[in-house]
Amino acid sequence: MNEPVSAHYRGGGSLAAKIAIGIRDAGLEPNSFRASDFEPIDEFHFRGREATLQLLKQLNLNQTSKVLDIGSGLGGVSRTMAEEVGVHVTGVDLTQEFCDAAIAISAWVNLGDRTSFLQGDATDMPFPDDHFDGAVTVHVAMNIPDKAAMYSEARRVLKSGARFGIYDILQGEGGEVLYPTPWAANPSISHLATPEEMSAHIMSAGFRILSESDSTSESYHWLKERTTKSPSTSPLPVTTQLLFGTDAAKMAKNQLKGLNERRMLTYSFICEA
Ligand SMILES: C[S@@+](CC[C@H](N)C(=O)[O-])C[C@H]1O[C@@H](n2cnc3c(N)ncnc32)[C@H](O)[C@@H]1O
Repeated sequence: MNEPVSAHYRGGGSLAAKIAIGIRDAGLEPNSFRASDFEPIDEFHFRGREATLQLLKQLNLNQTSKVLDIGSGLGGVSRTMAEEVGVHVTGVDLTQEFCDAAIAISAWVNLGDRTSFLQGDATDMPFPDDHFDGAVTVHVAMNIPDKAAMYSEARRVLKSGARFGIYDILQGEGGEVLYPTPWAANPSISHLATPEEMSAHIMSAGFRILSESDSTSESYHWLKERTTKSPSTSPLPVTTQLLFGTDAAKMAKNQLKGLNERRMLTYSFICEA
């Protein structure tokens, strides 16, 4: 059932090697960068590292916290948390290719001891009950039809009182999403919930919602700036373009229209287990 989702993300394969080649082609070495330099490719969500830092501030973590990153992708969110707070982060992601790239990037930036990544499904995670002190999930639920299973798994593996930060793409009131998007080439693997449906799923799983916020307008302006100006100030010569290939321009156009017309929303929830 999940094969079409991981096939969508893994593209042609050998992602870590492609990133290394892109860096070396520019006369640089992968291990000469800082973790935050990888933002153009590894913070694979609207508003990049800034959005991760906003979420992080609200999670009450300290150096001894064990944190879970559900749908960790290339590991940018995990490394930002590990670097900023000194926590240990475990990332779980459906796409093996992304887990391999996440492990490689962590090794390049010397965060291999504070981050670990493993392949797994958010709806059936390989962790014991009451295990983590905090969790995040960033731009993942839009690929998961069974959100009840996803959030009850998150609740199961979190200790009581732990915080869970959710930052996701939701269905807006402005009409259907336009495809292709970065998370789906067509509607068959896209499963957006409305804000009301999302709140209901989160609460049914046993979480208390402490706050929620709609960042759609900020995401629109962020993407507009990113697509009209140079992509970022990072010295890294590779970007998420490496993942999207020839569809990148079409995806950006669809997302700009989608955010502007509120067909799609970016939304965060801070929850307590
Ligand atoms: C848009 S990327 C976001 C990655 C990362 N959270 C970030 O913000 O940089 C979506 C990720 O969700 C993962 N994913 C989709 N369905 C999943 C599932 N059922 N379980 C775990 N990961 C899943 C994909 O493999 C992909 O890495």
